Amino acid sequence: MKPITLKNLRQWKLEGKKFASLTAYDYSFARLFAEQGIPVLLVGDSLGMTIQGHDSTVPVTVDDMVYHTRHVRQGAPNVLLLADLPFMSYATKEQAGHNAARVMQAGANMVKIEGGAWLADTIRYLTERAVPVCGHLGLTPQSVNIFGGYQVQGKTEEHADQLLSDALTLEAAGMQLLVLECIPLSLAKRITEALSIPVIGIGAGTQTDGQILVMQDMIGITSGYVPKFAKNFLTETGSIAAAVEEYQRQVLAGTFPSLEHSFKG
Ligand code: KIV
Ligand code: NA
Repeated sequence: MKPITLKNLRQWKLEGKKFASLTAYDYSFARLFAEQGIPVLLVGDSLGMTIQGHDSTVPVTVDDMVYHTRHVRQGAPNVLLLADLPFMSYATKEQAGHNAARVMQAGANMVKIEGGAWLADTIRYLTERAVPVCGHLGLTPQSVNIFGGYQVQGKTEEHADQLLSDALTLEAAGMQLLVLECIPLSLAKRITEALSIPVIGIGAGTQTDGQILVMQDMIGITSGYVPKFAKNFLTETGSIAAAVEEYQRQVLAGTFPSLEHSFKG
């Protein structure tokens, strides 16, 4: 695989070519995903659940993110690698700068941060200092204690308009990629069409430019509650490599996520 950059993603959006991405937390899976041609990997703070067994992403530290980012990069030298900045590590733009430097030096190409228009200054600050930023709107898991649980977001017209307006504000501030999580598919389509940057969905229907899944959800080893948008590709394929291949095939074909893995509105 040639090194994947944001330029590739922007080109794919222009061409209407979809792309698949996965979370990764270690060398072995990162290598396998890269070998299967997955162009974008995310060291997600979902590792608080999938790796550490917590019930939220709140306990995850910058040290944790640095550790996992380093090892994922070892396995996947040429993917576009995103790393989450964890809970409260970007409360001020100076903190964001300090912590972004740590995950970038561990091997990330870009950082992801959760939240709306309040992040505009932070995005401008990071981008001016050579850190590309991916936003994350909709269900933002670091806010679980504000939400009081994990629910579909953007269901009222007012909230939907708010999310679209946040997305436009952050794009104007320099955001170069956006993750939309758990929102109605009609809203995801609206936001994807309104932005010129690529948009990646999870639980956001089939109309976004790219898709992402938590790798444990993709191979059906999620413990406890399995979200509606998750799909186990391992049972229908029989090997992890084939599951990754099939996931990517269905994303590129636009057949995953189907309606049963999406939220109507
Ligand atoms: O941490 C994570 O895995 C994520 C994805 C669900 C987008 O943020
Ligand atoms: Na995350």
